[in-house]
Amino acid sequence: MSGMSDTSGPSGRVSRRIGAITESATLAVDGKAKVLQAAGRPVIGFGAGEPDFPTPEDIVEAAAAACREPRWHHYTPAGGLPELRESVAAKTLRDSGYQVSPAQVLITNGGKQAVYQAFAALLDPGDEVLLIAPYWTTYPESIRLAGGVPVVVVTDETSGYLATVEQLEAHRTDRTKVLLFVSPSNPTGAVYPPAQVQAIGQWAAQHGLWVVTDEIYEHLVYGDAQFSSMPVLVPELADRCVVVNGVAKTYAMTGWRVGWLIGPTDVVKAATNLQSHATSNVANVSQVAALTAVRGDLSAVARMRAVYDRRRQTIVRMLRDIPGVACPEPMGAFYVYPSVQGVLGRELRGTRPTSSAELCELVLEEVEVAVVPGEAFGTPGYVRMSYALGDDDLVEGVTRLHKLFAEAHDR
Ligand SMILES: Cc1ncc(COP(=O)(O)O)c(C=O)c1O
Repeated sequence: MSGMSDTSGPSGRVSRRIGAITESATLAVDGKAKVLQAAGRPVIGFGAGEPDFPTPEDIVEAAAAACREPRWHHYTPAGGLPELRESVAAKTLRDSGYQVSPAQVLITNGGKQAVYQAFAALLDPGDEVLLIAPYWTTYPESIRLAGGVPVVVVTDETSGYLATVEQLEAHRTDRTKVLLFVSPSNPTGAVYPPAQVQAIGQWAAQHGLWVVTDEIYEHLVYGDAQFSSMPVLVPELADRCVVVNGVAKTYAMTGWRVGWLIGPTDVVKAATNLQSHATSNVANVSQVAALTAVRGDLSAVARMRAVYDRRRQTIVRMLRDIPGVACPEPMGAFYVYPSVQGVLGRELRGTRPTSSAELCELVLEEVEVAVVPGEAFGTPGYVRMSYALGDDDLVEGVTRLHKLFAEAHDR
């Protein structure tokens, strides 16, 4: 028997650290939907967290030209092309008003690597990180991989998924080192009003906490909502603040894999050392594409934002019409995060789903619609739906959900 179930000690096949990582639920749902689609099933996918637009043409052209230039065929500095670090610093000042030097910028393989490296550079074993739920699935895994302990602060639709200083303070201990902050948020689309960003930043500064603030959806805000950068509103935080960002969501460039982190130079240097051994430089062709993106204007994202906004209004209106579904209005990113608690525990097509995970499986099986269960984001009872998909598919998909959920009944 030994060896079959042995997962610890030197004879374990996969290390405990890596064996404890769970698969990204959002990628898993998307993958399942794509397999069904490839088999000819008319699946409508609300699972993917990425723009459905192609990358703007000028960016693609710059990358195509870079492919043919031998100087991009070789290693470049691990921290990123100097001109890209400079342009990211300039773009950050332009877009959020945060003044940083190129030495404070590390170019990473997507925002995801920036998150991973920020925690790897900051955390010692046992350090606690305040993590507001619903949270993006990658955060707790990155924190744990770095030896940290995620301390979850749960919010719900009654506050629009916004945490207060009081809630955060109730979870602070003498082991708390970092607050993870993201606005606009994945998965909820919540956007913190500037006064609340400032209050949270001041509280963090007052208690000597670090803040890792993820600004990847900075340009996707709607209506009266306003993006604000925490270290701009709370300048005294700058020495203990790491900003995560990238080109993926703003320029429809998820596949190019370029992001960055911005922080104090000692942290950036440490993260660069890590990156130099893990991945070396980000692909040069992608860096040239990112350079074109951040040096350009924001007209492409303005066009995409208008489309997302239209879809956002449609999906919120349609979801609110479904019995058992409660949907707060998301003010940023491209996600809605409705509660499905009113559907759970009721009879539906011969079964009685009692969790959002079971409900999402049923939805995929019965009406071929892919949505991600709230379990993936630390709050069962909800689902995340991305509205970065075509308008017709969006309407068809939510109509299928409506028809299915309308069948739910008590015995
Ligand atoms: C909140 C948030 N941060 C960071 C990322 C990372 O994006 P990428 O690694 O594609 O740059 C994502 C992607 O889904 C995200 O939703």
